[in-house]
Amino acid sequence: MIYFDNAATTLYKPQEVMDAVLTSMKSSGNAGRGVNEASLSASRVIYQAREALCDLFNGEDPRQIVFTMNSTHSLNMAMKGLLRTGDHVITTVLEHNSVLRPLYELEQEGIELTILPCDALGRIEYEEIPKEIKKNTKAIVTTHGSNLTGNLLDIHRIGGIAREYGITYIVDASQTAGVYPIDVKASNIDILCFTGHKGLLGPQGTGGMYVRGGLRLKPLLSGGTGVQTFSKEQPAEMPTHLEAGTLNGHGIAGLLAGVEYINKKGMSLIREKEMLLMKRFYEGIKEIEGITFYGDYDTEIRCPIVTFNYKDYDSGEVADELLERYGVVLRAGGHCAPLMHESFGTVEQGALRFSFSHMNEIEEVDKVIQGLKEMTTE
Ligand code: ALA
Repeated sequence: MIYFDNAATTLYKPQEVMDAVLTSMKSSGNAGRGVNEASLSASRVIYQAREALCDLFNGEDPRQIVFTMNSTHSLNMAMKGLLRTGDHVITTVLEHNSVLRPLYELEQEGIELTILPCDALGRIEYEEIPKEIKKNTKAIVTTHGSNLTGNLLDIHRIGGIAREYGITYIVDASQTAGVYPIDVKASNIDILCFTGHKGLLGPQGTGGMYVRGGLRLKPLLSGGTGVQTFSKEQPAEMPTHLEAGTLNGHGIAGLLAGVEYINKKGMSLIREKEMLLMKRFYEGIKEIEGITFYGDYDTEIRCPIVTFNYKDYDSGEVADELLERYGVVLRAGGHCAPLMHESFGTVEQGALRFSFSHMNEIEEVDKVIQGLKEMTTE
């Protein structure tokens, strides 16, 4: 198998991640629920993971890192915890359903929504953002990297606009955490939502959010926390305020190992390898007649994703053929980014998305380039 679906989940995890999960499964009790060694050991690992993620995103305090199941969970917590009837939110057509569906749901409850369009290459006009800001604009919610095109948004610039107007900025870093440096302080990001199983190389079912100190969110869940048992309310202290129930301690141990691996290897080295593979693939297929690319490939700053269609062939059928003939795994069809498909006119056809990991090899890329050339000249 040649696995090029790393934007969906990274399949090849560092050995250290697997070892950490196993060690945790053999030794961890329930974090924050006792002073026995097993419970303390789980608490220590979870705190180390908060520290590592806080450092990675340049937060101020590890208690600003909240653990969740994934980005979708974090984004729901962020938007539903912050927004109230009458608030106005600005977002973009680049967004994944993890942003759009909660916003549509909130719209039914009286939230006003403005969705910024994109151009033919999937880029937004940053100058339009201030023009859309109103008295009741409470938040700007954007992705950092489009899961469909791989285009990056300039979150630093958007964060600057949000700060200037006193608006909360929520970022979906699903495609970029662990691959691109993110500085929540310098970029004025109030809430950063991330998943653990993509660029951070951790297990599925792990994720989290950074919440700026002093920003209060209404918890999505309430329940046991191991502290303040006799209070009828969810404890006010962060991160407990947003972490009801037993955490995924085993997964978080793996996530910590993923972050440590990235720090040791160097995020820029990981990214350079992924960009090299992405560019080689794009350059290798761009002359094939009948290919339509989606996204901006003239920039060095993008996710390691190449998305396209071949003529008017159904993307699912092309993907099946690639799998059958060459053992290539990629993602085809709709990509949970409905407004992007509408913008590109690919609602019916879907699109073929190839996404690379630093653990992929150049030979794998070359094999798929060759295969696509064969298939398109038959
Ligand atoms: N959101 C993930 C993707 O883009 C699953 O494939």
